[in-house]
Amino acid sequence: MVIAKPKLIAIPKVRKDVMSDEKEHGSGSVEPGDTSKRVGAEVIRERGVDPEELREKLIDAIGAEFTTYYYYTNLRMHLAGEEDYKEITEDARLEDRAHFELVVPRVYELEGSLPNDIRDFADRASCPDAEVPTPMDDSGGFDTSDLEVEDILEVLLEAERCAIRTWSEICDMTREADPRTYDMAQRILNEEMDHEAWFIELLSKERDDEINPAGHFARGEPGDAPYSTNNRFNDSA
Ligand SMILES: [Fe+2]
Ligand SMILES: [Fe+2]
Repeated sequence: MVIAKPKLIAIPKVRKDVMSDEKEHGSGSVEPGDTSKRVGAEVIRERGVDPEELREKLIDAIGAEFTTYYYYTNLRMHLAGEEDYKEITEDARLEDRAHFELVVPRVYELEGSLPNDIRDFADRASCPDAEVPTPMDDSGGFDTSDLEVEDILEVLLEAERCAIRTWSEICDMTREADPRTYDMAQRILNEEMDHEAWFIELLSKERDDEINPAGHFARGEPGDAPYSTNNRFNDSA
């Protein structure tokens, strides 16, 4: 029995430039080689969100993360003798720094930049300053004579609530249009909700002698940032 040889079919050579025209996503609103625009920003605009407005909102939001990291340093120190409260505040403090670190690159991807003057950055933060709730004394130091632990816990709680409102707004803005920013915002939001629950538990017990469980325990390592940590660039971030 003779088996017929299969016919060889010649495949025509296609030039690369012609091929790209045939692919659905081979070209778009940004000209090939144009470095003055970013497809990563234009696709967001095409989906109905102004990338400039979004990135300015992100700068305001990470301004709040950065200033909160600073203010929490001071608040934590003034919880003197309350080691459990200090530990929880430290987790929240370091996670706010992680939130700042997570989103900074996104600002630049959206063609923005951090303000050159840190005062401008602090002024535009989207949340109020989380100051130690005590007046300064005559020498410029803190007057701690009337400082109550519950007052510090209340400042911490309200700072977390502002963060929840901020990142919820960014989730709403980006849910359909910008999966990358949405992913970051929802990771941060997860941790902000943890933080609120921690300070509700501590304030309820301290101020009202009420048991109001957060449902969580302190992080394994200080400032573990279990949701927002995956985009760190190195061990110091
Ligand atoms: Fe935060
Ligand atoms: Fe927080």
